[in-house]
Amino acid sequence: DLYAPERQNSRGWDLHDYDDLADVQGAIEPFKAVSWTANPLIAGNYKGDASKLIINPADPTDMVGKVTECDRQDVEVALSVAQSWTNCAEKDRAVILNKAADLYEENYAELFAVLIREAGKTPMDAIAELREAMDFLRYYATQIGFIDKREARGVIACISPWNFPLAIFTGQIAAALAAGNGVVAKPADPTPIIATLAVKLLHDAGVPNQCLQLLPGRGSVVGAVLVSDPRIDGVCFTGSTATAQTVNLAMADDVSPDAPLIAETGGLNAMIVDSTALPEQAVKDIVASSFQSAGQRCSALRLLYLQEDIAPEFMDMLFGAMDELVVGNPWDFATDVGPVINQSAAQGIQDHIAEAKTDGRLLKQIAAPVDGIFIGPAVIKVTGIADMQKEIFGPVLHVATFKSSQVDQIVTDINASGYGLTFGLHTRIDDRVEHLTRQLNVGNMYINRNQIGAVVGTQPFGGEGLSGTGPKAGGPHYLHRFTKQTMPTDTV
Ligand code: NAD
Ligand code: ALA
Repeated sequence: DLYAPERQNSRGWDLHDYDDLADVQGAIEPFKAVSWTANPLIAGNYKGDASKLIINPADPTDMVGKVTECDRQDVEVALSVAQSWTNCAEKDRAVILNKAADLYEENYAELFAVLIREAGKTPMDAIAELREAMDFLRYYATQIGFIDKREARGVIACISPWNFPLAIFTGQIAAALAAGNGVVAKPADPTPIIATLAVKLLHDAGVPNQCLQLLPGRGSVVGAVLVSDPRIDGVCFTGSTATAQTVNLAMADDVSPDAPLIAETGGLNAMIVDSTALPEQAVKDIVASSFQSAGQRCSALRLLYLQEDIAPEFMDMLFGAMDELVVGNPWDFATDVGPVINQSAAQGIQDHIAEAKTDGRLLKQIAAPVDGIFIGPAVIKVTGIADMQKEIFGPVLHVATFKSSQVDQIVTDINASGYGLTFGLHTRIDDRVEHLTRQLNVGNMYINRNQIGAVVGTQPFGGEGLSGTGPKAGGPHYLHRFTKQTMPTDTV
């Protein structure tokens, strides 16, 4: 923690510890059959008839709740009453954000249950997600002390993805609020319930109604209207590269050129494993990076470059590890790989796997249950990153082999893809570490470990090129972008 060394990230819950495991299992049980309502919250008033069903992606019989999706008029009303939070002193803002983190922690059981049932998170992922959300709140609270001589921009539209529906949703809001802005938040279409609970806790902690409003609804309606309204003073967006480009165009047409777009987007993330790597460690890290969260992480490993000398034995070991994975309903704590988010996402991933199978490039796929929306983790053979047309957002690993002499070409190819989010390297060659660190245009590089789960305050997270605008979330430069320089009051 560069700027706030005394701050600590949350401890979380360790599911390998019997007491923590029993605690979490017992605490979430009462929320197994609860059905929630997610309504727009505009100037402190909930609105709507919650007519759209939210179904658990792991279990078509489990109705998690209902949502009211906003229309254009709701966005109009929300923006007309939205206010910045500058009338709250910096130290009071920090107190409120820390209080919100405490409330998240107190309400962990309900938040875990919704993350599991609405977003298909495994308990381990739900814990990591809640921890990250609390860490963002506490981290940005400490960062308020480092934006001296800068002031809030006004009202920020925060638009978030479904794959981190609590952590990223909270992180965007926490940063905007910490800097003294007001927020109009649009959660991702599939995950409005966890957003509703989070916003309630933020209000309970003391964030005023006009400074944080919630607009669930479709990206093509709520999101599109928000980002083309001249009353917004900036957009904080996390989602796909294509949507970020659409948002960028809309802002260019209708919003002040002064208003920033802070965008965190997708990646074609690679890992190189050379013949000096420790295979047991590399296999463990590949499985985590590719298949944890059912591969639904922007940071996930998509393309493994494996040195050809070690490929046959290494692949056997990898396939053996994949055979141990449990795919299923994450309400069962034994599950390693939960569902993908919805049927249309599943269809895209299945089509990709089916095409590889037809071409004889599907090397491995493990079985998955037929009820619910599951994809068995798969491995597909490719020749390199040039074969990867787009980010496949699911549990699919692509593998290419290489000769030692081809490493520089791999670097050139990765940089030429235009994406630059995460990269993993397993090697014992120090010069190679140094060389690749200098040559590769990626945001986060991980050496001899997995390449997911950046830690707030320690591993600021964000990509380059098509993968994001920066500044990095959870890092010391993030809040600055949510502020502008204070004009001097005295003239010369
Ligand atoms: P998405 O781009 O489909 O949607 C993201 C958000 O944008 C949603 O809230 C959506 O409703 C909204 N939206 C859609 N169209 C819009 C428009 N025209 N105007 C304004 N808003 C609009 O992405 P997703 O499917 O929710 O999330 C998965 C993607 O997010 C993946 O590509 C993943 O790599 C990326 N992601 C990136 C990071 C990161 O930090 N780099 C983190 C998580 C996810
Ligand atoms: N910050 C998330 C990760 O590192 C996206 O996996």
